Order: sequence, then structure tokens, then C-alpha cells
Amino acid sequence: MSKPTISIVVAVTGNNHAIGNGGKLLVHISDDLKRFKAITRGHPIIWGRKTYESIGRPLPERTNIVITRNPEFKAEGCIVVPSLEDAIKKAGELDSEIFIGGGGEIYKEALPYVHKLYLTIVESDAEGDVFFPDWRKNFTKETFREERLDEKTGLKYTWVDLERV
Ligand SMILES: NC(=O)c1ccc[n+]([C@@H]2O[C@H](COP(=O)([O-])OP(=O)(O)OC[C@H]3O[C@@H](n4cnc5c(N)ncnc54)[C@H](OP(=O)(O)O)[C@@H]3O)[C@@H](O)[C@H]2O)c1
Repeated sequence: MSKPTISIVVAVTGNNHAIGNGGKLLVHISDDLKRFKAITRGHPIIWGRKTYESIGRPLPERTNIVITRNPEFKAEGCIVVPSLEDAIKKAGELDSEIFIGGGGEIYKEALPYVHKLYLTIVESDAEGDVFFPDWRKNFTKETFREERLDEKTGLKYTWVDLERV
């Protein structure tokens, strides 16, 4: 198979691009989780070990690939690999479109290889301890934007799809 298209899906806060705190997500927006599922369904998705453990199970209807340096690590129903390069290679053997699901370490390492970003930018000042790297210099081609309001939390957020130029 030729080289796959690699995409990141991530929700960041608008002020400082925080993505998590204490091993957990910062915000829970039901429609955003639905969008995440719809975008990634059917494609391989790559997780850092910490994010995988915070979810605790493979997501259904897609191949879940977990990266860890621990050769003993087991994750039922997942492919476990020792490096990002191995993860991308494995995923690319399965599909022409593959996704990076986080977290912070994996996003940072993967960003140079990524073609497309599916961002959710949340108007929240929730404090984070993990952040998304700065994408703004290399991803300037906007292909989609939608401003939204989450009725349950009252949070405003924007879906922005960007391509590398
Ligand atoms: N907002 C969002 O959209 C979003 C999405 C996903 C995650 N998150 C949040 O992000 C946070 C977790 O991010 P994180 O940065 O702490 O952890 P992470 O990126 O999920 O996982 C880090 C782990 O991945 C493994 N790893 C990283 N680079 C590697 C490499 N080059 N080779 C082999 N293994 C490698 C290591 O596992 P070992 O220690 O086992 O070796 C490392 O400890 C959580 O708060 C989570 O909720 C947010």
C-alpha cells in the first residue's frame, strides 16, 4: 500500500491548547465525541499507552494500536508496538487513512508526519497539564469550520479542519 494519509483528531482549549489533566480529558462534549467516532470509525487509530489506559478498552469498529516502550505491556484486542514508526507502518499496511488519537507525547512526536488536523477548539479556561504542540505555522489551509454550543455544559466550541501546506 502507498503511504497513508495521517490525521490527528484532538480537542484543545482556545487559550493555551491544553488537552488533558490528571490523565483525563478536560471537557466532555457529547456531540464532539460523536464526531470523533464518525471521523475515525473504520480506520486504524494510534494511541499512546497513557491515553489507551485512560480509555481502558479498544474502541470498537477500528484497529487500535498502542505505543509503549514496555515490552511486557498487553492490551487485549489491540496491536501493541514499541515506536511511533512501527505504529504508522502497521496502520499503513491496513488502510490508506490512519489516525493519531493522542495523547500529548504522541501528538508531539507525530505532528511532523501529519497531513490533516481535525481540531475542536473549546472556549474553556480549564487547567491542563498536557498540551497540544503549536500547529499554526504549518497547517494553514482551512477546509471546514463550524461554531457550536454544547447545551449541557454551556461551552462554546469550534470544529476546524486544517491541512498541511
Ligand atoms: N483532548 C484530546 O483530544 C485528548 C486526546 C487524547 C488524550 N488526551 C489526554 O492526554 C493525556 C495523556 O497524554 P500523555 O502525553 O500524558 O501520554 P500519551 O501520549 O497518551 O502516552 C505516553 C506514553 O506513550 C508511550 N510512548 C510515547 N512515545 C513513545 C515512543 N517514541 N516509543 C514508544 N513508546 C512511546 C510511553 O508509554 P510507556 O510509558 O508505557 O513506555 C509514554 O509513557 C491525558 O490527559 C488524556 O486525557 C486528550
